[in-house]
Amino acid sequence: MTAPVWRASGMGWRWGAQWTLRDIHLSIHAGERVALVGANGSGKSTLLRVLHGLLKPAEGTLQTNPHVRQGMLFQRPHMLRMSAQRHVALGLWLSGVPWKDASEKARQALVQVGLQDIAKQAAPTLSGGQQQRLAMARVCALLPHVLLLDEPTASLDPRAKREVEQLIAAYAANPVDADTPVTLVFSSHNLGQVKRLATRVLYLEQGRILADLPVHEFFNTPLEARYPQAHLFLQGETL
Ligand SMILES: Nc1ncnc2c1ncn2[C@@H]1O[C@H](COP(=O)(O)OP(=O)(O)O)[C@@H](O)[C@H]1O
Ligand SMILES: [Mg+2]
Repeated sequence: MTAPVWRASGMGWRWGAQWTLRDIHLSIHAGERVALVGANGSGKSTLLRVLHGLLKPAEGTLQTNPHVRQGMLFQRPHMLRMSAQRHVALGLWLSGVPWKDASEKARQALVQVGLQDIAKQAAPTLSGGQQQRLAMARVCALLPHVLLLDEPTASLDPRAKREVEQLIAAYAANPVDADTPVTLVFSSHNLGQVKRLATRVLYLEQGRILADLPVHEFFNTPLEARYPQAHLFLQGETL
């Protein structure tokens, strides 16, 4: 088996005196599609940030495969005050692509997410769904092997939600390099989305992973009986 993308052992993170992640033991391999679920404040966003290297563990260890290129989509993507195409091109340019190529690649990336007709429109004036598609274009143009997504469709209407979800699934369906399948790690309150996109589910409560199961087992396990707060999550959105 190839080296995991991440291997965490006894990992924790705290904001000041408050522990936000505790005792995280976890290996994630290339090609897995992992959903992080749990109530607000359970530590999903913090775990995504630690995996992405934005926060260093305060205890324990996290090994990250250095050959794996990561991209992250934040819950509220920041829109630069420039055209949609420039917004994508700038991300490419910052990663080392010459400007002339960046602009053309950005144009292609907008076609992939169906935004070619609004390429010249200012990014901050786009609708919520369009902004999230633009954020996907910006991240995916860099061809990450791993996509970390923090509640990628929260606050979108059902149609925009489906469109963004389809983009995620389409990106994950094709290996970036011939031998490296795309790895997804995403947080979600949407049970239907978890079923559609995930192969594995991590259930968090107060910074701890209480369940780590293949998706079909997760949904066939009476979580409410075992974990006091699970019903809050299981009564969540299903569409
Ligand atoms: N910047 C911060 N400073 C202090 N505490 C924070 C900060 N960000 C998150 N927290 C706390 O960490 C805990 C986990 O938050 P978070 O990872 O955002 O959970 P989730 O994404 O599951 O809602 C919460 O108690 C939250 O209040
Ligand atoms: Mg969060």
